[in-house]
Amino acid sequence: MAFKVAIAGATGNVGREMLNILAERRFPVSEVVPLASSRSIGTEVSFGDKTLKCRHLDTYDFSDTDICLMSAGGTVSKDWSPRIGAQGCVVIDNSSAWRYDAEVPLVVPEVNAHALDGFRKKNIIANPNCSTAQLVVALKPLHDAAVIKRVVVSTYQSVSGAGKDGMDELFGQTRAVFVSDPVEPKKFPKRIAFNLIPQIDVFMEDGYTKEEWKMMAETKKILDPKIKLTATCVRVPVFISHSEAVNVEFEKPISADEARDILRKAPGVLVIDKREPGGYITPHEAAGEDASYVSRIREDATVENGLTFWNVSDNLRKGAALNAVQIAEAMIERKLIVAKKKAA
Ligand SMILES: NC(=O)c1ccc[n+]([C@@H]2O[C@H](COP(=O)([O-])OP(=O)(O)OC[C@H]3O[C@@H](n4cnc5c(N)ncnc54)[C@H](OP(=O)(O)O)[C@@H]3O)[C@@H](O)[C@H]2O)c1
Repeated sequence: MAFKVAIAGATGNVGREMLNILAERRFPVSEVVPLASSRSIGTEVSFGDKTLKCRHLDTYDFSDTDICLMSAGGTVSKDWSPRIGAQGCVVIDNSSAWRYDAEVPLVVPEVNAHALDGFRKKNIIANPNCSTAQLVVALKPLHDAAVIKRVVVSTYQSVSGAGKDGMDELFGQTRAVFVSDPVEPKKFPKRIAFNLIPQIDVFMEDGYTKEEWKMMAETKKILDPKIKLTATCVRVPVFISHSEAVNVEFEKPISADEARDILRKAPGVLVIDKREPGGYITPHEAAGEDASYVSRIREDATVENGLTFWNVSDNLRKGAALNAVQIAEAMIERKLIVAKKKAA
């Protein structure tokens, strides 16, 4: 069976990566349709060895399309996803528009593929925030082994998490610093070149930012509502891959060696953990890769049953495009979706 797949936001950071991943993983497609705004009608994007021309989302008829990978931002998704879903096309959405809707599954296939069964109410499935996706892949096997009580996480998030404008701003400001031009923040609230910014998304009433709140709410929905999580999310001058320093308190004892063994066998996780200079992963090395990498696993002697580790993953892949394609694959595997048109 082959599926007609539309990509809404195909010219963006995540949309382009979706096209790469569909081709790399030989996802069973009968046709791929790249969609964007009126700004990008006719813009060419690559799909494997083919070049496809973008069409306008507003005028596209979804009635014979099976899957829409939606990556055009929250406002577009709020407006379009229910209409697309009502035409019998399953929407896998990357924005935060639907993540907290009780009728929309929020899925990381390595963690809660079973939640996909509930997608029919709206025909929409939500992809988590990039910083949550990589974290829950690493937390899940540890939770199964020793039951997580509390997580304290500090993130070091790349500029690609803020879209192509975020990458352009880091590039432009870095150049400006070298040639002594004025540095003007536009996308980020302060200068990002040779700096870092302890604010991602807007402030909430309690002083946390929305990005920090998302990590807490999404970890509960995907993994376990009993887990307490507190986060500090920081934007750093790195182009691709988010890094996280993670401290976890468990109900049961678990040693660093046990955790290392468990994580080595866990789906979606790669452990790189040698206690020597360079014996760990950095964001530069994780870019373009699929895994949620774990390094620097050690026991935290300041609490009972505590572990600390370092977690890095490509935010455009496991944090967005790869997870969305894995959701589509899991739906096929679980026979939750059937192609509207039989392949010729
Ligand atoms: N970057 C990440 O790490 C990450 C991770 C998880 C989730 N997400 C989410 O994924 C979504 C896309 O992020 P991104 O980083 O790819 O952003 P981006 O690079 O800024 O790309 C945005 C895409 O949306 C399209 N678009 C914007 N307005 C549109 C409209 N009115 N109608 C149709 N298409 C429209 C743009 O098309 P034009 O070329 O026509 O402007 C472009 O293709 C966002 O919701 C983001 O929160 C991103």
